[in-house]
Amino acid sequence: MRIAVIGGDGTGPEVVAEGLKVLQAVAEKVGFDYETTDFDVSGDRYLAAGGDPNVASIPVIRDEEIDALRAYDAIYLGAVGHPDIAPGILEKGLLLHLRFALDQYVNLRPVKLYPGVETPLAGKGPEDVDFVVVRENTEGLYTGMGGVQYAGTATEVATQIMCNTRHGVERAIRYAFELCRRRNDKKRLTLVGKTNVLTHAHGLWYRAFCEIGEEYDDIEKDYNHVDACCMWFVKNPEYYDTIVVCNMFGDIITDLGAMIQGGMGVAAGGNINPDGVSMFEPIGGSAPKYTGQNVINPVAAVASLAMLLRETGQNTSDAKLIEAGDRVEAAIMAVTPKMKSQSAKRMGYSTSEVGDLIAAAVAEAQ
Ligand code: IPM
Ligand code: MN
Repeated sequence: MRIAVIGGDGTGPEVVAEGLKVLQAVAEKVGFDYETTDFDVSGDRYLAAGGDPNVASIPVIRDEEIDALRAYDAIYLGAVGHPDIAPGILEKGLLLHLRFALDQYVNLRPVKLYPGVETPLAGKGPEDVDFVVVRENTEGLYTGMGGVQYAGTATEVATQIMCNTRHGVERAIRYAFELCRRRNDKKRLTLVGKTNVLTHAHGLWYRAFCEIGEEYDDIEKDYNHVDACCMWFVKNPEYYDTIVVCNMFGDIITDLGAMIQGGMGVAAGGNINPDGVSMFEPIGGSAPKYTGQNVINPVAAVASLAMLLRETGQNTSDAKLIEAGDRVEAAIMAVTPKMKSQSAKRMGYSTSEVGDLIAAAVAEAQ
C-alpha cells in the first residue's frame, strides 16, 4: 500500500506523525507492507514561495502534484489553515481543490462516541451515539458558482448558487444506501434537507432518494428537515443509523456531530472517491495556538488512519487492511477510557504519549 502524506499546517504534522506511528505498529501486527511519501503542501510553503496572504496569487498545490497524488492508494491529510493567510485561500486552494480534482464525491463522517469519552448529552453513552453521515462533497453551495455585482456600493448584489446535478446527487445517495446495507445496523437511511424551502434543489434530492430507494427494499427510507435533525442529534441521537445530506448542511451537522461524540479531538472523516484516490483527515482545523506544544489530541487523526485502512482494504478487497483498520479502532477504544479529556492540553497525556498508548494497544492486542 502506498500512502501520500500531507501534514499541512499547524498541528497537522504532529497528529499525522502519531497516526503513522500507529500504522507501523499495525502493519507489524497484521503483516503487510506499506510505503509513505511526504508531500510538502501547506500555508507556510505558499508564503515562502511568495504567495500573497490576502488574495490567491499562486497555486497552493500544483497540477503536477495533484497528478502525482493520483498514483497513490490513499492520501493522509493533517490540517489546513494558517493564521497569516486570509480565509478561503488555503481552503479553496488545497482542501476543496483536492476534493474536486480527485472527484472525492462522498465525505464520510462517522459520529461515534468512544468508551470513556465525555459527551455533553446528559444520560447518553456510546450505545446511543453511533451513526454515520454521508455528506455530498463536490456540489451544492461549494462549487463557487455565483458572483458579486456592484461590489462595495449600496446596491451590491451577491449570489452563491446551490448547484445540484442528478448525477451528483444520485451517486451520493447510492453510496449511502449501500453503506447503510453494509452497516447492517438499524437499516435506516435518513435524507436530511430542507424540502419546504429549497424546493428546487432539495426537490431533486427528495425525488432521487425516493426513486433510488425503491431498489433497497431492506432499508427504511426516512426524511428529516435539517433544523429538526439538529434537534434530534441532541435529543435522540440513538435514532440515527446512516444519514445522507447535501454539502453545506453536511458541513454544519457534522460539527454538531463532532461535539456529541466528544469534540474535534476525536472526529475523523474521509473524502471518498470509490473509483479513485480517497483522502482521510481529522475534521478539526490546524489549531495554531497549540502548534508545536505536544498537547493536541491525535485521536481524530488516528481514527482517520483507521478509516483509511478499512476503506482502502474494502476497495482493493484486501482483508488484511480491513483487519488493520478494525484493530486500530479497537486500540483507540482501549485508550480513550484512560484519557482524562479529549480536549487539547487536558488529556492527562501529551500528543506523543497518546500515540504511544494506541500503538502499544495495537501491539498487545490478541
Ligand atoms: C470541513 C471544513 C471545510 C468545509 C472547510 C475548511 C473548507 O469545514 O472539512 O468540514 O467546509 O468542507
Ligand atoms: Mn466543516
